[in-house]
Amino acid sequence: MTFRYALILFAAAFPGFLSAQNPVKESTGFYQFESDDPNQKPFFSDRQGVLAKNGMVATAHPEASKVGVEILKAGGNAVDAAVAIQFALAVVHPSAGNLGGGGFLVYRDKSGKTASIDFREKAPAKGFADMYLDKDGNIIDNASTLGRLASGVPGSVDGMVEAHKKYGKLPWKQLLQPAIDLANKGVTLTEREARGLNAVKTDVTTLNPGTKYFLKPDGKDWVTGDVHVQKDLGKVLERIQKKGRDGFYAGKTARRLVKDINKNKEGIISKKDLADYHAQWRETINENYKGHKVITMAPPSSGGIALIQLMRLTEPHPLREWGWHSDSTIQVMIEAERRVYADRAKFLGDPDFVKIPTETLVSKDYLRSRWADFDWNKATDSKNVKGGVFPGYESLETTHFSVVDKDGNAVSLTTTLNGGYGSRVVIKGGGFFMNNEMDDFSIKAGAPNMYGLIGNKANAIAPGKRMLSSMTPTIIEKDGKLLMVVGTPGGSTIITSVYQTILNVLEHGMTMQQSVNALKFHHQWLPDKTTFEANAFSAGTIQKLQEKGYILEQQRNTIGRMDCILVLPDGSLEGGSDPRGDDTSMGY
Ligand code: DON
Repeated sequence: MTFRYALILFAAAFPGFLSAQNPVKESTGFYQFESDDPNQKPFFSDRQGVLAKNGMVATAHPEASKVGVEILKAGGNAVDAAVAIQFALAVVHPSAGNLGGGGFLVYRDKSGKTASIDFREKAPAKGFADMYLDKDGNIIDNASTLGRLASGVPGSVDGMVEAHKKYGKLPWKQLLQPAIDLANKGVTLTEREARGLNAVKTDVTTLNPGTKYFLKPDGKDWVTGDVHVQKDLGKVLERIQKKGRDGFYAGKTARRLVKDINKNKEGIISKKDLADYHAQWRETINENYKGHKVITMAPPSSGGIALIQLMRLTEPHPLREWGWHSDSTIQVMIEAERRVYADRAKFLGDPDFVKIPTETLVSKDYLRSRWADFDWNKATDSKNVKGGVFPGYESLETTHFSVVDKDGNAVSLTTTLNGGYGSRVVIKGGGFFMNNEMDDFSIKAGAPNMYGLIGNKANAIAPGKRMLSSMTPTIIEKDGKLLMVVGTPGGSTIITSVYQTILNVLEHGMTMQQSVNALKFHHQWLPDKTTFEANAFSAGTIQKLQEKGYILEQQRNTIGRMDCILVLPDGSLEGGSDPRGDDTSMGY
């Protein structure tokens, strides 16, 4: 029996052990790292997890986490806290938090019932398959990524209204107030937020001539500690507070949004598109993995199906015995990823428009057939793996948060404008960024989009259709009890980061924070290469894999910004927030 396995058994037998005698914040956790390479590191940092008994939130920004915990302390449930966090992030984390974007919420209540809400953006009614092509069929530069034509009809506000209507406990008004206060009183910028705003200054001033939004009043660059006040955004939030969905999809906000987007006939979102937008309740995907129930998002996100496929393909292999990031473990995970991403490109799209063979895709028989050409001696060639074509990388500008309340209700929510600060269009009189989610459609068959995504019919643009996503908000249950809440931004790397983070805990015995800290890697079928964070693989592993024909590329950027929660054997909660960002867990 290994040392770490003994520790797990010990902790399970003596539930007080973890939180009292050996709290996560003082221990090295369950996972003891061994490597033949002194330069290999398991973790991005040695950040420690946060422990609490009653409730926990993990978000991308300390102010948003504070809002969430205050709502929980005030008697709100996990959905109340999630709604308040979503609106707070729209103020404090404008690169990804949003009113003008969309996302997915996965919910599990304390009794084990599950639900999910799809508040993904939709193509406007005037959208059509070739809308980003010129008369010769060539892609018009930047049309689906920058400016007014790049936006889908936003879903976030209606998503929150629906979630609150069904599950909220506290009054709606109370949930909006923290975001309103943050907008009106101002937010102190972190170094990262200041840098982000400075980086988009040119686009913001070019696309919104004469605007004052998101620019420092004295015209200089933002610096850490500056206070950013957003009065017009505060007024929009007040209208949403007073009128619910009509505060956004009708009346003043809607008029301003439509006027701005249609300026000089640049964009096509109409008043009717806004009035017609409705978030959609969807059944979650609930599947087993070695006695755990994995509860995750169904299409139009590809994340859930892909995650289940990855876990099922991994299941027969003794990863724990092989060890974390051993060459065998990595080889199996890469080969699973190659096959799953090929399927993603071929089969997945908006289920309201295309038929998706979900049951087959996650079935053991089908997945066994996908493994038939696996060869221990050499890398499979992606060219020989059939499927559609493959998604590329996206910048780290989505945001995920996780919430668990005192009763054990849990929310896993990922939301985005797509690229950082979306289309870079800020609605005049509204003060919020619009998404550039239209780029997640395949805008031309066979041509890579902004992130290298190559399209197929299942994900072609059509009026009212939702674009395919990789967002993977997920909840794990064990023996009928809540175990883990997981998610991250990262475009196409979302799915593989969630997969690794779950396996790090279930297979390798890491704590939540260790699993978040753990260095990550990614393969997405095409291009046929594996990218990895610095120090993630030992020299020996790299050599062995290269000898088999794997192309390995160390990435300059980090992978993922996870915000996760683990329920410990004694029922207390460990928040794990990513040290790669401003992410912060807070509990009480
Ligand atoms: O829905 C999607 O898959 C993408 N729009 C997510 C973009 C993203 O994660 C970018 N940042 N990390």
